[in-house]
Order: sequence, then structure tokens, then C-alpha cells
Amino acid sequence: MDKHIAVLAGDGIGPEVMEQALRVLSTVADKFGHRFSTTQALVGGAAYDKYETHLPEETKSVCRSSDAILFGSVGGPVSEMNVPKWKNCEANSILSLRKTFKFNANFRPVKVIPELEYLCPLKKEVVDKGVDILFLRELLGDCYFGEHKTFNSETGVRTATDLITYDEEQIASIAEVAFKAAQQRRKKVTSVDKANVLDASKLWRAVVKEVSLGYPDVVLEDMLVDNCAMQIVRDPSQFDVVVLGNMFGDIITDAAAVLPGSLGLLASASMNREGFGLYEPPGGSAQDIAGTGTANPVAQILCIALMLRHSFQMEEEARAIEASVETTLKEGYRTRDIVRAGEPDQKIVDTKGMADRILEHLLAITVPSAAVCG
Ligand code: IPM
Ligand code: MG
Repeated sequence: MDKHIAVLAGDGIGPEVMEQALRVLSTVADKFGHRFSTTQALVGGAAYDKYETHLPEETKSVCRSSDAILFGSVGGPVSEMNVPKWKNCEANSILSLRKTFKFNANFRPVKVIPELEYLCPLKKEVVDKGVDILFLRELLGDCYFGEHKTFNSETGVRTATDLITYDEEQIASIAEVAFKAAQQRRKKVTSVDKANVLDASKLWRAVVKEVSLGYPDVVLEDMLVDNCAMQIVRDPSQFDVVVLGNMFGDIITDAAAVLPGSLGLLASASMNREGFGLYEPPGGSAQDIAGTGTANPVAQILCIALMLRHSFQMEEEARAIEASVETTLKEGYRTRDIVRAGEPDQKIVDTKGMADRILEHLLAITVPSAAVCG
């Protein structure tokens, strides 16, 4: 297969981890007989330096002429958040991309690998029950893109409002994605809302229920968002696919991101209804370690796997990457963020060292000849 990919490495650790992820991509190409071409484009602070905007037209047009977008990370040091280059950098880059390409479905898988259980802040007996959750967050509705307004009330009191809106099509669309995903997994969907208070949530609950009728093999459970926040830390093993609106999804997925122990292990995919996708580690630009060569490249490498699976339907290739990552971690290779204090058998590596080991495993995987296209 021939595919063209827009590479938006961005700021902070973005370019370092992207470099390693692209090595993995080219190894997959060689091994499975694909051709992947890439075009790099600027985003975030890196784009601001040249264009005085965080998402220049040039970058959008590179994305438009690609089959998928690989995104690194954006954002500046916390101490410089008011410097124009960094002000609203994340929102201006990420939200604009979501709006421009109508990415409505955000896949955020969260899994605790048994070998890395020590990183999970929960008790061992809770983690031992298994943590393997696919969060599906709606990305275009809710209070994110509704009306935002700051004004003085009639009595002169400073007031602000952000309008929450959902229509039934937006809800049905993300619900369909959730039920389809659950059919490939453990066949359970938990739909999260605040239906005891919000009309938007009442509609959410009703529409998800209607969609569920088309998926009789999948169990649907409704859960209030406050309860969900509690259940995520009390017993995460109860969840398979969790579908949420934009705002609740933002908050709950960050809480769940703590479970695997490092943001350096998480990948996410944002897809539109036509199947075009952006792949991004949700961990951010980690300015504090940028340039030190110590960032964990696993999240960005797993983004390649997600891209191959969701944009190019290359399941075999995606699994080969995931298996190589898992074996590397099982062997005890550790970047700084996942080191276990007092454990003698671990091999501490830098960004490139981790990728080297993953590549070795990838190269060693035997590809059934039917999977190689000429
Ligand atoms: C995320 C981020 C974004 C969001 C910010 C940067 C606008 O927190 O992708 O979760 O709120 O969606
Ligand atoms: Mg967030």
C-alpha cells in the first residue's frame, strides 16, 4: 500500500519522539512491503516562530493532501504561558485541527501492562483484576464549540457563560463508534453523562439507548459522571468501552491516564466520520525534559500502531508494533519515567535506546507471506 502522512512534530519532546516513531514506520514499510511517504509541517510554538500563528494554512494544506496526520505535541513552559508564542498554543493548535478536519471521535485506550503494574497508583489487588479500557470521547460538541461569552450582567456583575449543546446526530455518531468498538472487545459500553441535571445529558442517554438497539450483542450501562470518576479509581476492571461527551471525556480520560503510570505510554486517535485521522500522544510537550534525550518514545510509537489500524486497516502491522513494545517492556527496558526504584533487573535506556530495542523485536517478527504486499 502507498500512503502519505503529514508529520506535525510540534514542540518540546515532540520532535525527539517523532524521530524514533518514524524509524518504526519505515521498518514496518520494509517488512510488510508498503510505501509510506511523509511531509513535515509546523504546528504550535514552532509554527508561531515562522508564521505568528499556531496552525498556519500551509500546515492545514499539507494535512489535507495526506492520508493521515501524525501529531507530536505542542505547548511551552508553564512559566511562559503568557508569552504570545505560547499563549493558548495548545487550544489554538489542537482545537483548530479538530474543527478544521471535523474530528468527532477521540479514541483513548488505557491499559495497564502487568510488568508495569508497579507504576499504577492503585492497590495491587485492584490492578490485578485487569485494566484495559477504551475511552471514546466526542470532540466537536458540548461547551467546547458552543457560544463563549464574558459580559457584565444588568447589575454590573462580571459574568461568563459557555453553552453546552449536543444534537442527536452528534451523539448517535459517537455511540455507533463505541458499539462497533465494543463488538471487537468485551462487548460492554458504559455511557457517561449527568442526566440527573443536564438536558444535554438526558438527550445523550436517550440517543445512546436508541443506538444500542442495533447492537443486541453489546451490554449498555449508563453511569453518572461523578460516579464514573469514583469507579475509575475504585474498580477500573469493570470498564470495557466508555463513551463520553467532550468535557466529561477530557476530565475522566486524564484521571484514567494515571493508571498505566506514565503519560509516555499512552496514544490516542482522533477520527472524523470519513475515517480520516490524527494520531497524538495525549501526554503533552514535557518541556522540562525536552532536549535531554530521555523522553519515552513508546506513546508516539503506539500512535503509529493506531494509525496503521484505524486509517490504513493494517491490523497485522499494528499488532506487530504493539507486541514489540510489550516484549521490550517485559524485558525490563525502561526510560526514566517508568523506572522502578530498587529494582536491579531493569535496563535504563534513553529515547533512542528504547526505540532501538523495539525495532529489534519488530525486525525479528515473522511476517506470514500473505501479509506482505509487493
Ligand atoms: C486534550 C486537551 C485539550 C482538550 C486542550 C489542550 C484544548 O486537554 O486533548 O485532552 O481540552 O481537549
Ligand atoms: Mg485533556
